[in-house]
Amino acid sequence: MTYIRNAWYVGSWSHKLEAGVPLAVQILNDPVVIFRTQSGKVVALADRCSHRLAPLSLGRCEGESIRCMYHGLKFEGDGSCSEIPGQDLIPANSRVRSYPVIERHGWIWVWMGDTDAVDEELIPPIIGPDEGTYLLGKGDIDYQAQAYLIWDNLLDFSHLGYVHPTSFNSTETWGETRPVFTPLPLGVRADRWVLDQPPLFGDQRSDQWFTYDFLVPGILILTTKTFPVGKAEEFGMTTPPDDAAWIQNSYSAHAITPLTDGTARYFFTFGPHADGGTEAGRDAFLELAFTAFAEDQTFIEAQSRIIAQSPGAQIMPTSADKGITLFHRLTDKMIKAERESKLEPAA
Ligand code: FES
Ligand SMILES: [Fe+2]
Repeated sequence: MTYIRNAWYVGSWSHKLEAGVPLAVQILNDPVVIFRTQSGKVVALADRCSHRLAPLSLGRCEGESIRCMYHGLKFEGDGSCSEIPGQDLIPANSRVRSYPVIERHGWIWVWMGDTDAVDEELIPPIIGPDEGTYLLGKGDIDYQAQAYLIWDNLLDFSHLGYVHPTSFNSTETWGETRPVFTPLPLGVRADRWVLDQPPLFGDQRSDQWFTYDFLVPGILILTTKTFPVGKAEEFGMTTPPDDAAWIQNSYSAHAITPLTDGTARYFFTFGPHADGGTEAGRDAFLELAFTAFAEDQTFIEAQSRIIAQSPGAQIMPTSADKGITLFHRLTDKMIKAERESKLEPAA
């Protein structure tokens, strides 16, 4: 599987990046070191010293720089080497790759593609955990599976009634009805009502409105609102009015970053609307999310193992796979365009 390179990938949580402590991550197979400089700037460099290829993440942050602690070469935020102990000449090939990086919405976004194609506008319009509208808990999960299998899980909620009947209280109605999928320039939108459902908490059944955008390069932005049974019909089975009184309103943003071809890190937030929400409610949402996402993980990692044991085995799509098909069609097209424009740097 090839992934889009000209995109922003979540490399870390903002709050996990302590000043002066280098963090080793892997994104699209590239070893990357992320660190926060003394002035608070976030830097992402290839985690590979140009001298003898030791990881810079074992290095020492010094002001705005990082020093490789094997033989002491020092590197600046732009990747240039500024010091070679005992040697005046700094050769041009001492530079390491520097990745464009932006800290926004509580995440550290790393641009993995061509620097000529960097576009800040491509950071998805999520609501971050400190932005007030929702009380959002934060979680992450490491997967021994291809990132795209996690996308596919999130692009097809027909699994909810089978995988999450007790955690999310989901019923098999999820598989019996289909959302409306709308292609977006950089993703897919899914909207749906699920009628007369048990709630996540408590016992009041409700009509539930789910709307999400699944965006390049693997970002899910989901809003769920529940209403008294019968309201979906009253709203014409379409988008509920913004000012309609809801019972529960929750939000979550998910970012699935391919670490390698066969591993991924799944970052997510989840929680209730600040209007009526509480910190205890936020924690309950987060605990529920961890339980439910572990259920997904069991399936997806097992699925990944079977795929590895079955060279050449083909999938047999159903009508529930429409969102997956639309999204993969889009990413395949983008990967092809990257190749053709030769914007994709050599791996
Ligand atoms: S490997 Fe980094 S200084 Fe030698
Ligand atoms: Fe799931």
